[in-house]
Amino acid sequence: MRGDWGKLGDWQGNRSRPCAARRRRRSCLQGRAKGEDVVRELSEKTGNRTIDLLICDLSSQRDVRCLAEILNTKYKHLHVLINNAGAMFPRRVESFEGIEMSLAVNHLAPFLLTNLLLDNFRAAGKARIINVNSDAHEKGKIDLEDIQMQRHYPYGIGMRAYANAKLANLLTVCELARRLRSSDVTINAVHPGYVATNILQFDASTGPVRLFKPLWILAKQFILTPEQGAATPVFLACSPLVAGTSGLYFERCAPAASSAASRDPNLQRRLWTSASN
Ligand SMILES: NC(=O)c1ccc[n+]([C@@H]2O[C@H](COP(=O)([O-])OP(=O)(O)OC[C@H]3O[C@@H](n4cnc5c(N)ncnc54)[C@H](OP(=O)(O)O)[C@@H]3O)[C@@H](O)[C@H]2O)c1
Repeated sequence: MRGDWGKLGDWQGNRSRPCAARRRRRSCLQGRAKGEDVVRELSEKTGNRTIDLLICDLSSQRDVRCLAEILNTKYKHLHVLINNAGAMFPRRVESFEGIEMSLAVNHLAPFLLTNLLLDNFRAAGKARIINVNSDAHEKGKIDLEDIQMQRHYPYGIGMRAYANAKLANLLTVCELARRLRSSDVTINAVHPGYVATNILQFDASTGPVRLFKPLWILAKQFILTPEQGAATPVFLACSPLVAGTSGLYFERCAPAASSAASRDPNLQRRLWTSASN
């Protein structure tokens, strides 16, 4: 959150934050346990001493509402929001509010947080919202009758639920872009590429799938570093080249084709309504 206008990110480790922090802009980081270390590292790297940290469990709608209230009280104007947090859940688990966790973290948290901050973005005039999505959305399906996957939750690393939630995340990006058309607030989605992070969890709960763990460890040597993975979100947050651009899906700092389902205006509206209820 710069000056009274800001940049909010919960980005991969601390990869994109140097962009804001280096510009000595007041920045705010939403994180969990590791947040303090990240803020310390960022301040040391950039010399920016105005990086705030707000702790929030994004799987909790109550926490997200608290976070939004603090942000709207603390910062008069917000200029950039990067909805980065994401996770996969090998087993179907519910948040303490009874929401399937993949949906709660990857879709409903950014949906709710963004909507609760909209007036602040509008007050800022030009503002940019970036949803870190994934090409996994291409495998996603939206079943509005069973969006919480109570009927069937496939065995494995949780990729099906993650893909569905990322598709939902992208559908709301397109719908919100339509609703913000008459404002200077833009929203876009990004696939960061395949990045060597902790996104794939292989533990006892993934059963025999965890035999692929050595493969993932090997693959991490050859895929993008978190710094490289942050390139497109930072581009969308900062570059004048995308000023005014909204409702698009980006890869490698360029618009890319998203799945046909994600571009269905009827599904976009219906999912928005279901997420609002
Ligand atoms: N890595 C890839 O190849 C890849 C590909 C496509 C898309 N993505 C997307 O990139 C984004 C970043 O993921 P990553 O690859 O950096 O994975 P990661 O290392 O697992 O980072 C995920 C981030 O989300 C946060 N997070 C997860 N659940 C949360 C919750 N309930 N409350 C608050 N924060 C929570 C984590 O916080 P903690 O640090 O506190 O756990 C962490 O900062 C995600 O949206 C992911 O879907 C990644």
